[in-house]
Amino acid sequence: MTSPIANWSPENQERANKILATYPEKRSAIMPLLYLASLEHNHASNEAMCQVAELIGITPSQVRSVSTFYTMFKQEPVGKYLVSVCTSISCHLLGGNEVFDSVSDAAGVGHNQTTEDGQISVEHVECIGACGGAPAVQVNYELIEGVTPDKARALVEWLTQTTPAVVLADEMQQLFGGQRSFDWGPAEHAGAIAPVPAFGPYGSAGGDQ
Ligand code: FES
Repeated sequence: MTSPIANWSPENQERANKILATYPEKRSAIMPLLYLASLEHNHASNEAMCQVAELIGITPSQVRSVSTFYTMFKQEPVGKYLVSVCTSISCHLLGGNEVFDSVSDAAGVGHNQTTEDGQISVEHVECIGACGGAPAVQVNYELIEGVTPDKARALVEWLTQTTPAVVLADEMQQLFGGQRSFDWGPAEHAGAIAPVPAFGPYGSAGGDQ
């Protein structure tokens, strides 16, 4: 029988198999597989959800019920760089809305919108767990803390002009961040190659898979 993910890249098929092997119950792999499917399809498309359903032996509607519950599973295509600006209370008090406005202005699109060239999507999000380093921003879920409106604008310009293949939190923190909540520790070698989380084996690049 043909695998439901036979048209995925060999690399992602291998990742999917590794993920499946991690869970005694295949259905428990639904969330990492949805990230991986999103990497393949640019979002959690209907086809992606059907593939995951077949892979783990549940119905597409059960996959959809999980996929639509969590905002990080995107139901529509998103740009190469998803810029998420936290506007919850700690970030709000320290200028999160101004940071969002600056990102939106620099990109030329609003919340949940994507630039015409498909490069940048913008969204404001609820707390991303970096309150001590507010205002916080993520690019493809890679975190930057202590962002000012000016730095936020520079971040969007940098993404637009340099189009990095991989975005790394440490690099962006150095270029566009400010006060951090605490020392992050050893430098990361893996970053995000798409708007899905970069922690392996879910789906990104760099050195630490
Ligand atoms: S309120 Fe923004 S990271 Fe928590």
